[in-house]
Amino acid sequence: MKLLVCVAWPYADGPLHLGHIYGAYLPADIFSRYERMIGNDVVMVSGSDEHGTPITFVAEKEHVSPAEIAEKYHKINKEILEKMGIKFDNFSRTSSENHKSVVKDFFLEIYNKGYIYEGKMISPYCPTCRRFLPDRYVEGTCPYCGYEHARGDQCDNCGRTLDSQDLINPRCRICGTTPEFKETKHLFFKLSSFENQLKEWIETKDYWRENVKNFSYNFIKSGLKDRAITRDLDWGIEVPIEGYENKRIYVWFEAVIGYLSATKEYGNMVGKPDLWKEYWQDKSVKHYYFIGKDNIPFHTIIWPSMLLAHGGLNLPYDVPANEYLKLEGGKFSKSSMHGIFMPEILEKFHPDLIRFYASLNLPELHDSDFSWEDFYSKVNTELIDKFGNFVHRVLKFAYTKYRMVPPVIEIDDQDYEALNKIRETGENMSKSFEKVELKKAFKEWLNLVYYGNQYFDKFAPWDVCKKDEEKCATKLHISLMIVKALAVYAYPFLPFTSEKVWSMLGYRENIEKFGWAEAINPVEPNKLNEPEILFKKLNYQSFDEWNKLDIRVAKILEVKDHPNADRLYLIRISLGNEERNLVAGLKSYYTKEELTGKYVLVLYNLEPAEIRGFVSQGMLLAAEDGQNVSLLVPTEKIEGIKVLANNVESKPNGLISHKEFSKIKFEIAKIEKNNEKIILKGKNGYSVNLKILENYIGNECVIVHEKTSPIVLNTKNGIITLDREVSPGAKVK
Ligand code: MF3
Ligand code: ZN
Repeated sequence: MKLLVCVAWPYADGPLHLGHIYGAYLPADIFSRYERMIGNDVVMVSGSDEHGTPITFVAEKEHVSPAEIAEKYHKINKEILEKMGIKFDNFSRTSSENHKSVVKDFFLEIYNKGYIYEGKMISPYCPTCRRFLPDRYVEGTCPYCGYEHARGDQCDNCGRTLDSQDLINPRCRICGTTPEFKETKHLFFKLSSFENQLKEWIETKDYWRENVKNFSYNFIKSGLKDRAITRDLDWGIEVPIEGYENKRIYVWFEAVIGYLSATKEYGNMVGKPDLWKEYWQDKSVKHYYFIGKDNIPFHTIIWPSMLLAHGGLNLPYDVPANEYLKLEGGKFSKSSMHGIFMPEILEKFHPDLIRFYASLNLPELHDSDFSWEDFYSKVNTELIDKFGNFVHRVLKFAYTKYRMVPPVIEIDDQDYEALNKIRETGENMSKSFEKVELKKAFKEWLNLVYYGNQYFDKFAPWDVCKKDEEKCATKLHISLMIVKALAVYAYPFLPFTSEKVWSMLGYRENIEKFGWAEAINPVEPNKLNEPEILFKKLNYQSFDEWNKLDIRVAKILEVKDHPNADRLYLIRISLGNEERNLVAGLKSYYTKEELTGKYVLVLYNLEPAEIRGFVSQGMLLAAEDGQNVSLLVPTEKIEGIKVLANNVESKPNGLISHKEFSKIKFEIAKIEKNNEKIILKGKNGYSVNLKILENYIGNECVIVHEKTSPIVLNTKNGIITLDREVSPGAKVK
């Protein structure tokens, strides 16, 4: 069977980030790898979307040409996809001559059929910039959901496509001026002609994801309007019609044609210029479109209408659009998502680790969340401990004892069960793949990992193999079969690891060629090589939050009442070779006598602030649980020394504002020992690797929450603790 897998073309306006990978590229790759493995003939295409205002925006910001931006990010993104193991047959670009010529032909074909006509249109015109503004250059409030930063083409909040004129309180995104609306001519695509046809078509799509189907259906129900498909820009594909020399084809209108142009280009690349026809004209070929949900209307309404207008080409078979990926507990914003760019994350982690965690959390039906802590924990416990160790234990045992794959002699009930489990896992995964439920398929795989561990533990080879040679060989063989099945079934998700395990099992030929069904067959009597460890455990610790802070030990020299505030003290502190004045709201909690001579902690790089007429050059740190307040105090009393976290000195660059400081999450926790393990009891239990805590069991300590895992404040020979009791989980101010 032939399949065409189409993946949304990423704008070449920046490096891909994790949201892109989760939303489209990884699911497409997982799906395609599976389909190839069951013997289907898959062509997977995409490319860089290089035109339009997303690119010109960045170019203007960076003072370079749009072509340079597109060139730069096309290269970067292509490389990211390769590194991630996302395997395209053709990852093209919309600036290619091939694409331009396919677009022109397509355009003229539907123009000649009467589906494109000239019309007048009221367009936003910026009197300051003296130009018509493309929709993306206009910003304002969404008339549907009230989101204040909707763009003239679309609202990123509710996903509706918009016209600049729909926006409430529109402004020019370049200069902020309120645009005027003036008449200009444009070419229009007769989208309205396809309303009924599309409605009927979508009604038959009972296998589509519900949100995709509903969204598309509602979109049509609210009425299809003809759409302008030219723009007042000079960056884009020229309009092949006279009188339109100063306008360009609307980027969306040409980019979607990329699916066709990239297939044609692929045929040319492999020396078969007519190959595209097999994929686009043969009705039995299914087309899958992997996209993020903000692209739904373009793929279920506009592109299908264009295809209908053109005629003779296949419509989408399925459009498994994904929801959004959120970052750290749902505070999603595009800018924070931009925090996890692929080049950065690929520098730190093997692509299969990223693929593993993503596969567990694909936002298929609901938004999903990326959390660093969860990333580390899932990779360490599930992938490395459960899968990696299982594979290693089995291979190591087989290698040490036999140097090759031992034969099956006689199988018992448990072995039967294992063989069944292998078969069932493959079948269940296939069922999920058919519905493009990739996350579900992956969980089946993970279940087989758990099962493998159980099977091997029950078998207890270290015992059995001393007594019963035949049973030893058989059970090891079955264990190796589970390893083999895990390698085959992991191929769509973790291709690098799958191939590695495959060759450790002694296979020489590429795993994809063996295919999915090979998983249930016995392992060939291969010679084994000394197995390698698949992954080293991650113990990366970030210090991003910590690095914003400069905290020092100070001695309080003198305390006075603030002359014009009841609750404030004026405090003079010594930092060894420097003295500072602070204003602190401690009067309700500590007497002057209690404070004088005390060693405390001061936030040294806080922006100085004037508080009721006195400048405070820093802040004393205290814990508060809602009732009680306690100063943070060092056990090591040396004026001026820097406070560390997990023994690491921070590297702040400059001052920190109150607001920034308040975003850093501190927590007070009690140091407890449980079965030789140190547990920090705060809101939750934390384990932190810091030797010195051993000496302070029963005391309180101060935690800073980093993206990865918590860290504990200390000094070289001591910790930071409290001088009064507050309840665990208390916050620091
Ligand atoms: N560049 C668009 C985006 O990132 C997607 C374009 S998909 C295409 O949202 F098919 F039109 F190319
Ligand atoms: Zn303007």
